[in-house]
Amino acid sequence: TQGAILYGLMTLDQILLGDVCRTLSGKIAPVEIDDQPRFGYRSLMLDPARHFLPSEDVKFYIDQMVRYKYNVLQLHQTDDQGWRIEIKKHPRLTEKGEFYTQEELKDLVHYAAERNVQIIPELDIPGHTVAVLDAYPELGCSHTDTIPKIVGETVNLMLCANNDKVYSLYKDILTEVASIFPAPYIHLGGDEAIIETNWGKCEHCQSLMKQLGYTKPTELMNYFFGKILPVVRENGKKPMLWCELDNIRMPAHEYLFDYPKDAVLITWRYGLTPLCMELTARHGNTLIMAPGEYTYLDYPQYKNDFPEFNNWGMPVTTLETAYQFDPGYGLPASQQAHIAGVNGTLWAEAMPDINRVTYMTYPRGLALAEAGWTQMEHRDWESFKKRIYPNLSELMKRGVSVRVPFEIVRYPQKR
Ligand code: ACM
Ligand code: ZN
Repeated sequence: TQGAILYGLMTLDQILLGDVCRTLSGKIAPVEIDDQPRFGYRSLMLDPARHFLPSEDVKFYIDQMVRYKYNVLQLHQTDDQGWRIEIKKHPRLTEKGEFYTQEELKDLVHYAAERNVQIIPELDIPGHTVAVLDAYPELGCSHTDTIPKIVGETVNLMLCANNDKVYSLYKDILTEVASIFPAPYIHLGGDEAIIETNWGKCEHCQSLMKQLGYTKPTELMNYFFGKILPVVRENGKKPMLWCELDNIRMPAHEYLFDYPKDAVLITWRYGLTPLCMELTARHGNTLIMAPGEYTYLDYPQYKNDFPEFNNWGMPVTTLETAYQFDPGYGLPASQQAHIAGVNGTLWAEAMPDINRVTYMTYPRGLALAEAGWTQMEHRDWESFKKRIYPNLSELMKRGVSVRVPFEIVRYPQKR
């Protein structure tokens, strides 16, 4: 009920914000609210790996999340561009670049918990690992030995699947991570592993495949996570992974879906969410909804807005599109019973600081907050459009950079 009381106060605050005349007179109309969230898991994801966010900035971000009843913050702390978490047993990991000390992370966890927010750590493996390969080049595949591992420049390399040192290093890492974060999940990424050119070409991985009787290098994913996930479980946590169904489109791998049942999956790839929903329902995995179509808050909000300088083809996701998101995709209740909630991503390649992060978050993050909280029959775009303005004004008063969604009018120039 700490959350219930907190959210009651947030609702009262929003009523006061939206009803300025009465607020000035110190009165509001009598109102009875009988409310509960549609989903228990309402998350935003920050990416301090790509651009570091000092913990003061993360606290500032949490302050705003809470106002909209988000209760999970996923922190993507390792990637090709940086390793952002102190591991006491392996200080080499944080020799380059900024990072959070364990003390800072514990303080963040505490700060978040006081606001009913759980922090879920993400350490992405086996791809997105140049920062760890820079510290420990011997953990890469044999044929990539000669490739310089330059944090922030080299991409698409992977940890070798047939190297005991990889598994012992991550055993140490995950044991420390589990002791910092009380959340029940550790997110291990698992996305965008470029398997064919790494494990598919490595002599060590090839010999492992032969030994195991595997015919496709993608099968080594089972071996890899089969070694890593028990460490997560031994530490009393459940694994969380990006639901990676890209391989399913290859004819040879029609049914490459063998995640263990205790893995909580996040659907994200454009176009693959309906399939992901169906497969997870059938296999009994809990699913979090972060479809690229609606919840990738790193995508531009309108044409010609940032991140045009760094846009690899990210489609425009307008506020209206973000609002149209139904986390159940309109399916019958029985087919969405395994959905735990929603997650908005803020991949930060093109977000150099917290101001850009909040600008990309709001107002679309208000739309996602509503999708996570409110049943579809109570949602209405026309109503939402009116309701966001007092909230945007309030965010601005609090010093939060937001995008005000007025249409840009180009007046004809006088001649
Ligand atoms: C992802 O966007 N790579 C999960
Ligand atoms: Zn290898």
